[in-house]
Amino acid sequence: MALSNHQLRLAARPVGMPKPTDWSLVEEPVRDLRNGELLIKILYISLDPAMRGWISDRKSYVPPVQIGDVMRALALGRIVSSQNPNFVAGDFVSGVLGVQEYAISDGTGIFKIDPRIAPLPAHLSVLGMPGMTAYFGLLDTGQPNPGDTVVVSAAAGAVGAVVGQIAKIKNCRVVGIAGGQDKCHHIVNDLGFDAAIDYKTEEVYGALRKHCPKGIDVYFDNVGGDILDAVLALISRGARIVICGAISQYNNTGPIKGPGNYLSLLVNRASMKGMLVTDYMPRYPQAIREMAGWMAEGRLKSREHIVAGLEKFPEAFLMLFTGANFGKLELKVAEP
Ligand SMILES: NC(=O)c1ccc[n+]([C@@H]2O[C@H](COP(=O)([O-])OP(=O)(O)OC[C@H]3O[C@@H](n4cnc5c(N)ncnc54)[C@H](OP(=O)(O)O)[C@@H]3O)[C@@H](O)[C@H]2O)c1
Repeated sequence: MALSNHQLRLAARPVGMPKPTDWSLVEEPVRDLRNGELLIKILYISLDPAMRGWISDRKSYVPPVQIGDVMRALALGRIVSSQNPNFVAGDFVSGVLGVQEYAISDGTGIFKIDPRIAPLPAHLSVLGMPGMTAYFGLLDTGQPNPGDTVVVSAAAGAVGAVVGQIAKIKNCRVVGIAGGQDKCHHIVNDLGFDAAIDYKTEEVYGALRKHCPKGIDVYFDNVGGDILDAVLALISRGARIVICGAISQYNNTGPIKGPGNYLSLLVNRASMKGMLVTDYMPRYPQAIREMAGWMAEGRLKSREHIVAGLEKFPEAFLMLFTGANFGKLELKVAEP
């Protein structure tokens, strides 16, 4: 009997914050495999801020998801059957599999996962795309030196929490900016950050001045907007600003707020550079090995926020923009 596949499709192009009516949940049978293909049962789906950009009809690093398409998503699953010599049934794999229960692939862009290294959800988190973003964004673009002051925003999130922990491993002073007392407490007391700033209740510029008395050498920017401007006013000579994301701007219906304080780059001979994690794909295996080693030594922790049920996608996705997620946001779709 044919397997049934529930899929979450884009029904309308969202304006501002996505609404439940921008999505439709459909069911269709899984077709037979052709030569060279594999059938993957999806277990965990990664919910990422970048998905907001993928459903906007504007030029980006990937073409937009079209109305009626299955929503694009990174995911992790187990191979049910394979007609591809490189994969066998039972293998755990990850790739761009979509928001659905089953995916058929020809193997392109599919990576094998070793579940003995870490629990499955960690392979979409510290050992997955967000971890790679933190690793290469901080080390390649941010170039921290021991003793540097590193500031990171969305600091309790999937990317930010890893940035801060790697910066500590590299002997930097680390200040995280996050929303709410619980997140601030976590990054200092569980992850070893030197200080935390709750941007929802504290005045960010004043707090940064207090916690970064020698200025800011590296800023890993996940949020953009006003926080970027506050940091720019306090950078030190030769500072590096990593433009990783600008989540405060993703649901804007008006123009994106750019940095007003950009002349601080001139005065301080500083740089601000964008980074895209997929540019580093050939180097992922080396980074995963090093990060898995840090995890095994207890120096790098992974925290996931898991929501159960494919049908929860529309409301769960919004947690990224309200800050309701505490750790890497993932949907659990099935048991292994
Ligand atoms: N360049 C790349 O290749 C690449 C790859 C992956 C991710 N990214 C970017 O990295 C950033 C973090 O992504 P993630 O996956 O790690 O997500 P995440 O941090 O786990 O979740 C998003 C967090 O952003 C914070 N946030 C939401 N709205 C905000 C606002 N208006 N002002 C300040 N903070 C706000 C919330 O935390 P609080 O509760 O602390 O507000 C929320 O929990 C995003 O900008 C994303 O686009 C870039």
